[in-house]
Amino acid sequence: SGTLPAPGSLTGRRVVITAGGTREPIDPVRYLGNRSSGKQGMALAAAALAEGATVELILAHVEVPAPDGVELVQVETAEELRTATLRAAKQADALIMAAAVADFRPAEQILTKIKKRADGVDPVITLVRNPDILREAVEQRTAAGAGPVIVGFAAETGDPTADPLSHAREKLARKGCDYLVLNQVGDGRVFGLDDTAATILDAGGTEPVEVIGTKAEVATAVVARVAAALAGRG
Ligand code: CTP
Ligand code: CA
Repeated sequence: SGTLPAPGSLTGRRVVITAGGTREPIDPVRYLGNRSSGKQGMALAAAALAEGATVELILAHVEVPAPDGVELVQVETAEELRTATLRAAKQADALIMAAAVADFRPAEQILTKIKKRADGVDPVITLVRNPDILREAVEQRTAAGAGPVIVGFAAETGDPTADPLSHAREKLARKGCDYLVLNQVGDGRVFGLDDTAATILDAGGTEPVEVIGTKAEVATAVVARVAAALAGRG
């Protein structure tokens, strides 16, 4: 005999989470990467599991293990992440895009290792832009007439033109997702650390909510917003 787990706020829901950082090959031994550790994505997966969701985790390069009990899809490049994400999003109740997606990839696939040349001419790597997967997931939902609650993440520094919150508001509008989780970065903050401060922006117009604490606490807050949005839809 056993007792069934208590139903959580996401019982019966399917949540797709992208995590980690994509790697764009330069040649067979080198890549363009980024500093995403995957910790926030893993914390989101754990938080969604704890609320009873079925979780599909689409994993680019990560430095931490995935929680038990998720469906894992391993990817390398932004293009692979795109294919996996747009497919998974069709069946999902929520899509949480925590992955750090490379904005650019090398224009050419170089199939042999780049060697130093005897004539001293060094290589120039031309980059082309990757697709905006979050934007495409929103467009796919619009085209279908229905689809998942969609959450984006943004790491922003301020700059002379705007503060991080202004950049995040602009990004939320540009992407068309339902929520955008802002991490303020710079000065060694956020990347790879366990403690973080995040601001959850809501396209519905509710005032931004700031969460200061561990990535697990930020994940719990994000998952709670997703569950509330889904409950509101019935
Ligand atoms: N994202 C995506 N596809 C990309 C780039 C980003 O789906 N090619 C997603 C990320 O997973 C994240 C959100 O978009 O959830 C915001 O990422 P960010 O890099 O902040 O947005 P960009 O539009 O690339 O803006 P920026 O020029 O500031 O990097
Ligand atoms: Ca980017």
